[in-house]
Amino acid sequence: MISKDHPGDGEVLAFDLYGTLVDPTAVSSELGQVLGDLDGREAARLWRLKQLEYTFRLTAMGRYEDFRWVTERALGFALASLGVSLPDKQARWLTDLYDHLLPFPDAVPALRALTDNGYELAVLSNGNPAMIRNCLANGGLEEFFGQRISADEVRAFKPSPLVYQHAAERLACPAGQVRLVTSNAFDSVGASAAGMRTAWINRAAAPFDTIGTQPDLTVPALGRLPAALADAR
Ligand code: LAC
Repeated sequence: MISKDHPGDGEVLAFDLYGTLVDPTAVSSELGQVLGDLDGREAARLWRLKQLEYTFRLTAMGRYEDFRWVTERALGFALASLGVSLPDKQARWLTDLYDHLLPFPDAVPALRALTDNGYELAVLSNGNPAMIRNCLANGGLEEFFGQRISADEVRAFKPSPLVYQHAAERLACPAGQVRLVTSNAFDSVGASAAGMRTAWINRAAAPFDTIGTQPDLTVPALGRLPAALADAR
Protein backbone atom coordinates (compact mmCIF):
# COMPACT_ATOMS: atom_id res chain seq x y z
CA MET A 1 0.00 0.00 0.00
CA ILE A 2 1.20 3.52 -0.75
CA SER A 3 1.08 5.59 2.39
CA LYS A 4 0.01 9.22 2.47
CA ASP A 5 3.58 10.08 3.43
CA HIS A 6 4.90 8.63 0.17
CA PRO A 7 2.27 9.21 -2.50
CA GLY A 8 2.92 8.01 -6.03
CA ASP A 9 5.64 5.64 -4.87
CA GLY A 10 7.66 8.56 -3.46
CA GLU A 11 7.73 10.46 -6.73
CA VAL A 12 8.60 14.15 -6.67
CA LEU A 13 6.53 16.50 -8.82
CA ALA A 14 8.71 19.05 -10.64
CA PHE A 15 6.65 21.88 -12.10
CA ASP A 16 7.51 23.96 -15.11
CA LEU A 17 6.81 27.64 -14.38
CA TYR A 18 5.97 29.75 -17.45
CA GLY A 19 2.89 28.46 -19.23
CA THR A 20 2.21 25.83 -16.57
CA LEU A 21 1.84 27.71 -13.26
CA VAL A 22 1.76 31.27 -14.58
CA ASP A 23 0.58 32.65 -17.89
CA PRO A 24 3.23 34.43 -19.98
CA THR A 25 0.70 35.49 -22.63
CA ALA A 26 -1.18 37.54 -20.02
CA VAL A 27 1.30 40.32 -20.83
CA SER A 28 -0.89 40.96 -23.88
CA SER A 29 -3.03 43.36 -21.84
CA GLU A 30 -0.02 45.57 -20.94
CA LEU A 31 1.29 45.23 -24.50
CA GLY A 32 -2.21 46.20 -25.65
CA GLN A 33 -2.01 49.41 -23.58
CA VAL A 34 1.17 50.32 -25.43
CA LEU A 35 0.37 49.01 -28.91
CA GLY A 36 -3.42 48.70 -29.14
CA ASP A 37 -5.35 45.49 -28.49
CA LEU A 38 -4.78 43.63 -31.73
CA ASP A 39 -1.04 44.23 -31.90
CA GLY A 40 -0.78 43.58 -28.14
CA ARG A 41 -2.02 40.02 -28.57
CA GLU A 42 0.18 39.41 -31.60
CA ALA A 43 3.22 40.89 -29.86
CA ALA A 44 2.64 38.62 -26.81
CA ARG A 45 2.43 35.58 -29.10
CA LEU A 46 5.55 36.53 -31.07
CA TRP A 47 7.42 37.38 -27.87
CA ARG A 48 6.84 33.98 -26.32
CA LEU A 49 7.59 32.08 -29.55
CA LYS A 50 10.85 33.97 -30.10
CA GLN A 51 11.82 33.60 -26.44
CA LEU A 52 11.56 29.81 -26.70
CA GLU A 53 13.26 29.75 -30.11
CA TYR A 54 16.21 31.69 -28.71
CA THR A 55 16.56 29.25 -25.79
CA PHE A 56 16.65 26.32 -28.23
CA ARG A 57 19.13 28.05 -30.53
CA LEU A 58 21.52 29.17 -27.80
CA THR A 59 21.55 25.66 -26.35
CA ALA A 60 22.08 24.08 -29.80
CA MET A 61 25.01 26.46 -30.35
CA GLY A 62 26.53 25.60 -26.97
CA ARG A 63 26.11 29.22 -25.89
CA TYR A 64 24.41 30.53 -22.79
CA GLU A 65 22.80 33.83 -21.85
CA ASP A 66 20.27 33.83 -19.06
CA PHE A 67 16.50 33.80 -19.46
CA ARG A 68 16.12 37.48 -18.62
CA TRP A 69 18.55 38.38 -21.43
CA VAL A 70 16.67 36.04 -23.79
CA THR A 71 13.32 37.52 -22.77
CA GLU A 72 14.51 41.09 -23.40
CA ARG A 73 15.95 40.22 -26.82
CA ALA A 74 12.79 38.31 -27.81
CA LEU A 75 10.64 41.31 -26.88
CA GLY A 76 12.84 43.50 -29.08
CA PHE A 77 12.26 41.11 -31.99
CA ALA A 78 8.48 40.94 -31.43
CA LEU A 79 8.22 44.74 -31.36
CA ALA A 80 10.44 45.16 -34.42
CA SER A 81 8.28 42.63 -36.31
CA LEU A 82 5.33 44.94 -35.70
CA GLY A 83 7.36 47.98 -36.71
CA VAL A 84 7.45 49.34 -33.14
CA SER A 85 10.38 50.66 -31.20
CA LEU A 86 9.91 51.54 -27.54
CA PRO A 87 12.12 53.59 -25.22
CA ASP A 88 14.42 51.34 -23.14
CA LYS A 89 12.52 52.22 -19.98
CA GLN A 90 9.21 50.98 -21.40
CA ALA A 91 10.82 47.80 -22.78
CA ARG A 92 12.34 47.13 -19.35
CA TRP A 93 8.94 47.67 -17.73
CA LEU A 94 7.45 45.06 -20.08
CA THR A 95 10.25 42.55 -19.36
CA ASP A 96 9.79 43.17 -15.63
CA LEU A 97 6.22 41.92 -16.02
CA TYR A 98 7.75 38.44 -15.99
CA ASP A 99 8.23 38.95 -12.25
CA HIS A 100 4.50 39.60 -11.84
CA LEU A 101 2.78 37.02 -14.02
CA LEU A 102 -0.41 35.80 -12.44
CA PRO A 103 -0.91 32.11 -11.67
CA PHE A 104 -3.54 30.28 -13.68
CA PRO A 105 -6.71 30.16 -11.53
CA ASP A 106 -6.41 26.40 -11.06
CA ALA A 107 -2.80 26.53 -9.85
CA VAL A 108 -3.17 27.29 -6.13
CA PRO A 109 -6.04 24.82 -5.45
CA ALA A 110 -4.15 22.05 -7.28
CA LEU A 111 -0.88 22.76 -5.47
CA ARG A 112 -2.70 22.81 -2.14
CA ALA A 113 -4.41 19.48 -2.86
CA LEU A 114 -1.13 17.88 -3.93
CA THR A 115 0.67 19.19 -0.84
CA ASP A 116 -2.18 17.93 1.36
CA ASN A 117 -1.85 14.55 -0.35
CA GLY A 118 1.80 14.46 0.77
CA TYR A 119 3.58 15.15 -2.51
CA GLU A 120 6.93 16.89 -2.52
CA LEU A 121 6.75 19.72 -5.07
CA ALA A 122 9.58 21.50 -6.87
CA VAL A 123 9.91 24.09 -9.62
CA LEU A 124 12.11 23.38 -12.61
CA SER A 125 12.32 26.38 -14.90
CA ASN A 126 14.38 28.10 -17.55
CA GLY A 127 13.93 31.28 -15.50
CA ASN A 128 17.03 32.54 -13.71
CA PRO A 129 16.93 32.17 -9.91
CA ALA A 130 15.81 35.79 -9.32
CA MET A 131 13.02 35.47 -11.91
CA ILE A 132 11.78 32.25 -10.32
CA ARG A 133 11.92 33.72 -6.82
CA ASN A 134 10.11 36.93 -7.78
CA CYS A 135 7.47 35.17 -9.85
CA LEU A 136 6.63 32.68 -7.08
CA ALA A 137 6.61 35.40 -4.40
CA ASN A 138 4.46 37.84 -6.38
CA GLY A 139 2.09 35.08 -7.49
CA GLY A 140 1.55 33.72 -3.97
CA LEU A 141 3.09 30.35 -4.91
CA GLU A 142 6.19 30.45 -2.73
CA GLU A 143 4.86 28.30 0.10
CA PHE A 144 4.42 25.23 -2.10
CA PHE A 145 7.95 24.83 -3.35
CA GLY A 146 10.80 23.74 -1.14
CA GLN A 147 13.13 23.32 -4.11
CA ARG A 148 13.45 25.81 -6.95
CA ILE A 149 15.72 24.57 -9.68
CA SER A 150 16.88 26.87 -12.45
CA ALA A 151 18.33 25.90 -15.82
CA ASP A 152 20.81 28.70 -15.08
CA GLU A 153 22.59 26.32 -12.68
CA VAL A 154 23.81 24.27 -15.67
CA ARG A 155 23.92 27.16 -18.17
CA ALA A 156 21.72 25.34 -20.68
CA PHE A 157 18.01 25.48 -21.41
CA LYS A 158 15.35 22.81 -21.65
CA PRO A 159 15.15 20.39 -23.37
CA SER A 160 18.87 19.82 -22.84
CA PRO A 161 19.21 16.58 -20.85
CA LEU A 162 21.65 18.46 -18.60
CA VAL A 163 18.73 20.40 -17.11
CA TYR A 164 16.65 17.34 -16.21
CA GLN A 165 19.66 15.35 -14.97
CA HIS A 166 20.66 18.28 -12.79
CA ALA A 167 17.11 18.50 -11.40
CA ALA A 168 17.15 14.83 -10.42
CA GLU A 169 20.50 15.36 -8.70
CA ARG A 170 19.22 18.41 -6.82
CA LEU A 171 16.14 16.41 -5.77
CA ALA A 172 18.40 13.55 -4.67
CA CYS A 173 16.38 10.91 -6.47
CA PRO A 174 16.65 8.94 -9.70
CA ALA A 175 15.20 10.69 -12.77
CA GLY A 176 12.60 7.91 -12.99
CA GLN A 177 11.18 9.04 -9.68
CA VAL A 178 10.63 12.63 -10.78
CA ARG A 179 7.48 13.54 -12.70
CA LEU A 180 7.74 16.74 -14.73
CA VAL A 181 4.44 18.60 -14.81
CA THR A 182 4.34 20.93 -17.80
CA SER A 183 2.11 22.59 -20.37
CA ASN A 184 4.98 22.80 -22.83
CA ALA A 185 5.04 19.72 -25.06
CA PHE A 186 8.76 20.14 -25.83
CA ASP A 187 9.45 20.09 -22.08
CA SER A 188 7.49 16.86 -21.63
CA VAL A 189 9.37 15.24 -24.52
CA GLY A 190 12.71 16.43 -23.09
CA ALA A 191 11.92 15.13 -19.61
CA SER A 192 10.85 11.73 -20.99
CA ALA A 193 14.07 11.51 -23.01
CA ALA A 194 16.00 12.11 -19.78
CA GLY A 195 14.10 9.29 -18.06
CA MET A 196 11.51 11.27 -16.08
CA ARG A 197 7.82 10.55 -15.78
CA THR A 198 5.62 13.28 -17.23
CA ALA A 199 2.24 14.95 -16.90
CA TRP A 200 1.11 17.26 -19.69
CA ILE A 201 -1.32 20.04 -18.80
CA ASN A 202 -3.13 20.59 -22.08
CA ARG A 203 -5.34 23.62 -21.38
CA ALA A 204 -5.57 24.51 -25.06
CA ALA A 205 -6.76 21.04 -26.17
CA ALA A 206 -3.80 21.12 -28.57
CA PRO A 207 -2.31 18.16 -30.43
CA PHE A 208 0.83 16.77 -28.80
CA ASP A 209 4.19 17.00 -30.57
CA THR A 210 4.79 14.43 -33.27
CA ILE A 211 8.33 13.64 -32.16
CA GLY A 212 9.33 12.00 -28.91
CA THR A 213 7.52 10.05 -26.25
CA GLN A 214 3.87 10.79 -25.47
CA PRO A 215 3.26 12.08 -21.94
CA ASP A 216 2.55 9.47 -19.26
CA LEU A 217 -0.47 11.49 -18.14
CA THR A 218 -2.47 14.20 -19.88
CA VAL A 219 -5.00 16.42 -18.12
CA PRO A 220 -6.93 19.44 -19.44
CA ALA A 221 -6.19 21.58 -16.36
CA LEU A 222 -3.94 21.54 -13.30
CA GLY A 223 -7.03 21.06 -11.16
CA ARG A 224 -7.42 17.58 -12.64
CA LEU A 225 -3.90 16.48 -11.75
CA PRO A 226 -4.48 15.28 -8.16
CA ALA A 227 -7.25 12.90 -9.25
CA ALA A 228 -5.32 11.74 -12.33
CA LEU A 229 -2.27 10.91 -10.19
CA ALA A 230 -4.44 9.00 -7.75
CA ASP A 231 -6.03 7.03 -10.64
CA ALA A 232 -2.62 6.28 -12.13
CA ARG A 233 -1.47 4.46 -8.99
C1 LAC B 1 10.08 27.35 -18.17
C2 LAC B 1 9.74 27.66 -19.62
C3 LAC B 1 9.85 26.47 -20.48
O1 LAC B 1 9.47 27.86 -17.20
O2 LAC B 1 8.52 28.18 -19.79
O3 LAC B 1 11.02 26.58 -18.00
